Amino acid sequence: MSASPATGNPKVTIGRALTRARAALEATSETPRLDAEILLAQTLGWSRPRLLAHPEASIDPGCARRFGALVKRRCDGEPVAYLTGRREFWSLDLAVTPDTLVPRPETEHLVEAVLGVVPADTPATVADIGTGTGAVAVAVALERPRAFVLGSDRSRAAVEVARENAARLDAGNAAFIVADACSALASRRWSVIVSNPPYVAEGDPRLETADVRFEPRDALAAGPLGLDVLETLARQAPARLAPGGWLVLEHGSEQGAAVRSLLFRAGLGAVATIRDLAGNERVTLGRCAPTAGDGRGAGTGPGAIDAEPIAGAGRRTPAA
Ligand SMILES: C[S@@+](CC[C@H](N)C(=O)[O-])C[C@H]1O[C@@H](n2cnc3c(N)ncnc32)[C@H](O)[C@@H]1O
Repeated sequence: MSASPATGNPKVTIGRALTRARAALEATSETPRLDAEILLAQTLGWSRPRLLAHPEASIDPGCARRFGALVKRRCDGEPVAYLTGRREFWSLDLAVTPDTLVPRPETEHLVEAVLGVVPADTPATVADIGTGTGAVAVAVALERPRAFVLGSDRSRAAVEVARENAARLDAGNAAFIVADACSALASRRWSVIVSNPPYVAEGDPRLETADVRFEPRDALAAGPLGLDVLETLARQAPARLAPGGWLVLEHGSEQGAAVRSLLFRAGLGAVATIRDLAGNERVTLGRCAPTAGDGRGAGTGPGAIDAEPIAGAGRRTPAA
């Protein structure tokens, strides 16, 4: 029997396996110890607390080999989420596959922005374009049970993952379809159209970095400036919004001004940008003109920028 690259030994303890795996992962991962713990817990079918409570327990050779193979793939850059098939987002345990983007913590700002414009006690219709795993759609559906949430993606495989996530997490008010951009939204006017679309420029070297090169290129890149899908959404969405409805878009940290300009030129008001925890412009939203007498006003255009993150958005326990 060959020795595992992670354990270097057919039979070792949990503590020793973790130490060796961490050392192997240090060159490629920013979180080598955490990665090692997650992968060993996955291999053994144990929780991480149980793993950490029993460093002296020995691992049988079969487990050691499987763990070694996972560590090797992680050393080659494969994201932990693809190795385990899971990712936490908004405190939800989501299934993830190589057909879906791995949901990012900064996208929780997108969820917060939607919750900030959808009152908890009112029926609403929310469309999530480019839903991927369904992360945003499922989080909004669970936080706003009176809303109907439609997630769409042009990737059939992604839509299947999103459906599975919604069903497992009991988001019965969410549905999913395969569709390009806003093409499936004509049947009604929407309270909110939200999207975390692909927004990286083709040729951006970040597309070739370790974890990212394993993710679907269509989920990441969008034309020479990364603005192609954002432009399409800004062009199509306003006609699909109900009076007073909101378009809420995630974008790259350098794209805030461009996206504000797109929303303003599309006729939306109250245009504002929310920064992420790192201080980068991350989410821009704009509002369709409300009906006369609504009294809330559509806002003044792109002057209203750099809003503070929306307070009281009813966020669940922040993800680790
Ligand atoms: C950045 S990922 C976001 C996934 C998910 N919403 C999240 O935040 O984790 C972008 C998603 O948009 C989808 N997509 C790309 N272009 C699209 C288009 N024109 N119409 C619909 N979906 C699109 C991709 O397949 C991918 O799932």
